[in-house]
Amino acid sequence: MARGIERIFNDISGNYELINHILTFGFDTIWRKKAARLASSFSGEKCLDVCTGTGEMAIMIARLSGKKTSVFASDFSESMLIIARDKPESKSVKFVNADSDNLPFPDNFFNCITASFAARNLNTSKNHLLKSLREFYRVLKPGGRFINLETSQPASKLLKYLFQLYIRNFIKPLGQIISSSKSAYSYLSRSITTFYSTEELSGIILEAGFGDAAAKRLLLGIAAIHIAVK
Ligand SMILES: C[S@@+](CC[C@H](N)C(=O)[O-])C[C@H]1O[C@@H](n2cnc3c(N)ncnc32)[C@H](O)[C@@H]1O
Repeated sequence: MARGIERIFNDISGNYELINHILTFGFDTIWRKKAARLASSFSGEKCLDVCTGTGEMAIMIARLSGKKTSVFASDFSESMLIIARDKPESKSVKFVNADSDNLPFPDNFFNCITASFAARNLNTSKNHLLKSLREFYRVLKPGGRFINLETSQPASKLLKYLFQLYIRNFIKPLGQIISSSKSAYSYLSRSITTFYSTEELSGIILEAGFGDAAAKRLLLGIAAIHIAVK
C-alpha cells in the first residue's frame, strides 16, 4: 500500500499544489500558515516537516523561525522532493528522501515535528498510523511538540453530509480531470471522507505515547491542527 501511495504522489507531483489551492479555495495555504506559525514558536534548534511533499510547510517554518532553526523536511516521493528542492525559497531547508515509518535520525533529535495533510496517507491502517506516530515520538526531544494539520470531520451532522457531498461530487471529479489521474483523486477523496474525527485522532496520538494532544478546529471542523507533546 505504501508503495502505491508513493506512486500516486509521483504521478500527481506536477500540479499537486495548484489542484490543492483550487479545490480548497486557498484554505490549505491559510491553514498551513497557521500551523507554521505555531510550529515556529516551538521550532528551537531543529525542526522536521515529515511527508513534506513540495515543501510548502517547511519553507514557511524556515522563513518564520529564521537562522536559529535548522529545518529538515522528509518525504518518500522523489518527484515531490525534486519540485521542493527546485524552489528558490527552499535553500535553507535540508530535504531528505525517507519513509516516515523509518526516519534516518537519532532518538530525541528534534524540538518540533510537523505534518500537513499527511496523516491520512499514513493511515493505511490504524496500526500503520500508530507506527508512524511512534517514529515521530522517537525522534522528538522530551518536551518537543508534534503539530499535525489534517482534514477532519465536522461535528455537525448536516455539515459533515455537505462536506462529504462536496468531496465526492467536486473534489474527486475535478481532481481527476485536472491531474488526469483517476486513481489518485479516487484515493485522496476516499481518504478524506473516511478519516478520523478530531477526538478520535487525539485518542490515537495519545495511544502512540504523546502526553497531550489538544486540537484546534478549523472552518467548523473541516480541518484541525493537533498539538501534541512528548
Ligand atoms: C497530501 S501530500 C501532503 C504534502 C504536504 N505536506 C502538504 O502540506 O501539501 C502527502 C505527502 O506524504 C508523502 N507520504 C505519504 N506516505 C509517506 C510515507 N510513509 N513516508 C514518507 N512520505 C510519505 C507523499 O509522498 C506526499 O508527498
